[in-house]
Amino acid sequence: MLLSMAALTLVATLIVFFGSFLGYWILFQHFPEAVSDSFVPGGIDWLLMLLLLIPPLLIAVATSFKLAERILAPLTSLAEAAKEIADGNLSARAESRPGTFKEVGQLVLDFNEMADKLQDAADSMSIWNAAVAHEIRTPLTVLKGRVQGLIDGVFVADEKLLQGLMLQIDGLSRLTDDLRTVTLADNGKLTLQVEPVSLSDEVVSAVDMLRPSLEQAGFLLELKLSPVMIHADAMRLRQAILALLNNIERHASPGRVQISARSVHGAAIVSVEDCGPGLPAHFIKRVFRPFMRAEGPRSRQRTGSGLGLAVVRAIARAHGGKVVYRRSTLGGSAFVIKVPTSQPGAK
Ligand SMILES: Nc1ncnc2c1ncn2[C@@H]1O[C@H](COP(=O)(O)OP(=O)(O)OP(=O)(O)O)[C@@H](O)[C@H]1O
Ligand SMILES: [Mg+2]
Repeated sequence: MLLSMAALTLVATLIVFFGSFLGYWILFQHFPEAVSDSFVPGGIDWLLMLLLLIPPLLIAVATSFKLAERILAPLTSLAEAAKEIADGNLSARAESRPGTFKEVGQLVLDFNEMADKLQDAADSMSIWNAAVAHEIRTPLTVLKGRVQGLIDGVFVADEKLLQGLMLQIDGLSRLTDDLRTVTLADNGKLTLQVEPVSLSDEVVSAVDMLRPSLEQAGFLLELKLSPVMIHADAMRLRQAILALLNNIERHASPGRVQISARSVHGAAIVSVEDCGPGLPAHFIKRVFRPFMRAEGPRSRQRTGSGLGLAVVRAIARAHGGKVVYRRSTLGGSAFVIKVPTSQPGAK
């Protein structure tokens, strides 16, 4: 824009400058008597000045119209899009035509990027709500059916039935706990009870909790533990390791399972590996997102809510670390949690 204004000024100056030379040269050639000798401009001088002013004036008016159109059109489109978004149409976008000024074009781009993010957030919020409702509906339907059957005298309140009810209630409370953890972490509000923790002790205690059922299902547990002291929330760490072991029990084929803990350059690393089948390639990018299961968020193979790995990621991030997936040398999945050994603010 600055360049256009400078060019306009330059053209106007050049027209007046060279125009005066040309005008007086013609006057001196053809009407020398008309040019006054004094410094006070005479009639012919005024006429010449007027004639010289008209072309720059016309150019300036035409350029101003063009400039105004190049600035105003995208700004009008931006104002309209902003109004539509405020009225609830999140798909509205501003348009900038070719030839729009760089500054205005950038403003339109930034505005549209902000609108994209707003729309993404609204979309994921409705997907999230639908998924939560879907996950809660199933156990509630089962509970309602059983309790109604008890009231109507169709079912007898024996131990098996009550244990079945308890299982549904356990599922619901695990779901709400997981949802809470993921939501708190998303908002950066997952608080940790940080204390000095022996990483290998926590791994052993998590493994021991699931060892009987894992071994009974045909898994062979191998532990490779180096002594590592870290500042972390022991309960949350165990929860993350348990979620990974629980996944092996439910999603991996029986065989060798390797669990290791070590420290490398100030980072504590826990890896949990199985011998197959691993994640399908198309699923790897989404595996840590909430409600994702290999068969998609609405898998018929109802193995869980698809929140386990989202919780693991939330816990790793709350510790300032991360969790990654890679192919294991054992032939299956390797989930690797990496957290700094000391937390900022830890004593
Ligand atoms: N060790 C593994 N081997 C193969 N697939 C796995 C493994 N771990 C996870 N997956 C796949 O990743 C998906 C997401 O795992 P995640 O733990 O988040 O959810 P889930 O186990 O289905 O349910 P939840 O843990 O909430 O009960 C699983 O449904 C499964 O398809
Ligand atoms: Mg799981």
